[in-house]
Amino acid sequence: MAESLLIDHSQPKSQRVESLCPQLEALVTGESNFVANVANISAALRQGLGYFWIGVYLVDGDSLVLGPFQGPIACTRIRRGRGVCGTAWAENRTVVVPDVEAFPGHIACSSESKSEVVVPIRTPSGDIIGVLDADSDKLDDFDESDVQLLEFSAQLIGRLFRAQ
Ligand code: SME
Repeated sequence: MAESLLIDHSQPKSQRVESLCPQLEALVTGESNFVANVANISAALRQGLGYFWIGVYLVDGDSLVLGPFQGPIACTRIRRGRGVCGTAWAENRTVVVPDVEAFPGHIACSSESKSEVVVPIRTPSGDIIGVLDADSDKLDDFDESDVQLLEFSAQLIGRLFRAQ
């Protein structure tokens, strides 16, 4: 495992994303425990991009249940098709929400959350095992770089899940 992250916060977001992706891979190398790896990936994403809330929800029957995350306390269970997370799961697609108040059925775990991205986590064979959720306390705070980083991270988490 890498000892620390190398992040230059003076760099534009796209460059920080480029440097963070290989560091995420390095962070999980040599450790097979899923919870430990996802906890560190969440921490690295928060350190690197400063997300207000970042973490995973994992499929448990017809719900998603809260997994490792960084940020304020959050809702523990979300039904399939509910909220942004349940929608990303049910529709098997990345959902970008520039203004959470404009998203019908958005689940407000924190009143400070203003925009959000949720990415399905798939195993290499394509089964959805959860979602990766990032929240910002600013409106319209996510761009292509965030989506690239979060989709990369979700793919990494999906690969690690198979290793259990
Ligand atoms: N806002 C999410 C719930 C999870 S929290 O943001 C951490 C949703 O609508 O599904």
